[in-house]
Amino acid sequence: MGIVENPNDIGHVVEADREHVWHHLTQHKPFESADPRIFVEGRGMRLWDATGREYLDGVSGGVWTVNVGYGRESIADAVRDQLVKLNYFANSAGSIPGALFAERLIEKMPGLTRIYYSNSGSEANEKVFKMVRQISHRHHDGRKYKILYRDRDYHGTTLGCLAAGGQSERRDQYGPLPEGFVEVPHCLEYRGQFGDTGNYGERAADAIEDVILREGPDTIGAICLEPVTAGGGVITPPKGYWERVQEICRRYDILLHIDEVVCGVGRTGKWFGYQHFGIEPDFVTMAKGVASGYAAISCMATTEKVFEMFKDDPSDPMSYFRDISTFGGCVAGPAAALENMRIIEDENLLENTAAMGERLLGNLREVQERHAVIGDVRGLGLFCGVELVADRRTKHPADEKLVQAVVADCMAQGVIIGATNRSIAGFNNTLCLSPALIAGEDDIDALTASIGKALTKVFG
Ligand SMILES: Cc1ncc(COP(=O)(O)O)c(C=O)c1O
Repeated sequence: MGIVENPNDIGHVVEADREHVWHHLTQHKPFESADPRIFVEGRGMRLWDATGREYLDGVSGGVWTVNVGYGRESIADAVRDQLVKLNYFANSAGSIPGALFAERLIEKMPGLTRIYYSNSGSEANEKVFKMVRQISHRHHDGRKYKILYRDRDYHGTTLGCLAAGGQSERRDQYGPLPEGFVEVPHCLEYRGQFGDTGNYGERAADAIEDVILREGPDTIGAICLEPVTAGGGVITPPKGYWERVQEICRRYDILLHIDEVVCGVGRTGKWFGYQHFGIEPDFVTMAKGVASGYAAISCMATTEKVFEMFKDDPSDPMSYFRDISTFGGCVAGPAAALENMRIIEDENLLENTAAMGERLLGNLREVQERHAVIGDVRGLGLFCGVELVADRRTKHPADEKLVQAVVADCMAQGVIIGATNRSIAGFNNTLCLSPALIAGEDDIDALTASIGKALTKVFG
C-alpha cells in the first residue's frame, strides 16, 4: 500500500534520522549499513513504514501503549478543541478535563479518591516513592522509609525507579542508585524457587514476609508491585498470591503500591489488573493506556487516608506534598484520556479484550503443542508471554539471539511482536504480545500463525 506520497522527502527524513536521532533502547552501529525503520501512519491495528510496507501491530506501539488502536480522529478532535481553548496552566490550578477525568477514573476505582497528574509512568511511580518518604518523615519519625520491590518487575527509567527495579540488565552500569529499596523474590511459578510447596502463590507471598521480618517491619513503608509483571517476562501471579500479599501488608502496616503502567485501563480485560484479585491498594500508578499514546499523561491514584496525611498541619509550611510536574499541567492529557475512556466503554473493549485474550492464549497453546521450544504460555487479557526454552525438561532458556530471530522473522512477515529485552540476565527469552484492545479474531489468528511460522523457520 503506497501511503508515502513523496518518497524523496522520506529519503531525507531517513537520513536526518540516521544522522541526528538517538533511538531508545537501541545499539546504533547497524544503522551505518542499514536504514532505521520509520513509521509514518497507523490505522486500527495496522501501521505503515516509510517504504509503504504494511504491518499488523501485535504490541500496541511497541510497548503496550496504543490500547484503542491507531487513527482515532475523535481523540485528535478532543485534543485539538482543548488546545485551542486552553493548552496549559500549571496543575497548581485546576482544569476542566483534569477535574472530569479524575472523577471518571475514580468511579472505576472503588476505595481511591485522589488523582495526581504527571507525564510518564516513571514519574508517577516517583511520586509514590516521594510520598512514602514524606509520610515516613512526618508520621513515623523517619521509620518506615524502605520500599520493597520485586525481582523481575520494572517501574521506570529514572534512578529512583531503577533502584526499585528488579531487572538487573536495566540497572547495570547506572549505579550508584538511591538507597532504601529492598528486593523480594519473584512469583513466576514456571521457574519456581521454593521447592515443593502446597500452594505456590501463598509461598511466594510468604517470601515477602520473610524479607519484611529480616529488614524489620518498622523500617518498611511500602511495597511496589506490578499486577502482572510485563517486561520481566509477562508473569501472571499464581493463585492465592495477591490475597496473601494484601494480608501481609495489613499485618505490618505497609502501603500497597500497584504499578498499573502497563495493565491499567483495560489491558487485562478489566479496568485495572489488580481488580482481578479483589485487593485494595493504597496507591495505583498508570500511564501507557490512559490516553493510548495520543497525549503524554500519567496518573497516581490514592486514598483519602493518604491524602489527609498531607494536609493535617496547614501551619507547617513543609507539610504538604511539595512536588510539581510541569507537563502534568498539559490539558491535552486528560482531554485525550476522557475520549479514550469513552471509546473503551462505547465499543465494549473490556469485553472484547477478555474474549480475544482467551482466543490468543488458546491459539498460543496450540502452537505450543507443535513446538517443543515453547516451555510456557501465560497471560491475562490481551497481554501474553511465550517463554522459549532450549529443553522443556531442564527449562534452560532459549538462546537470546534465536529469540530475537523469531521477532525478526515475524517482522519480515509484516507482524510486529516483542520479546523481553535487556532485562533479566540470561532470561531474555519470552516473546511478548499485547495487541490493541480492538483486536478481532482475524488479527489474533494472523498473529499466532506468524509466530508458528517463525518458530518453524528459526528452530525447525
Ligand atoms: C510496569 C511499568 N512501570 C513503569 C514504566 C515506566 O513508564 P515510562 O516509560 O512511561 O516512564 C514502564 C515502562 O515500560 C512499565 O512497564
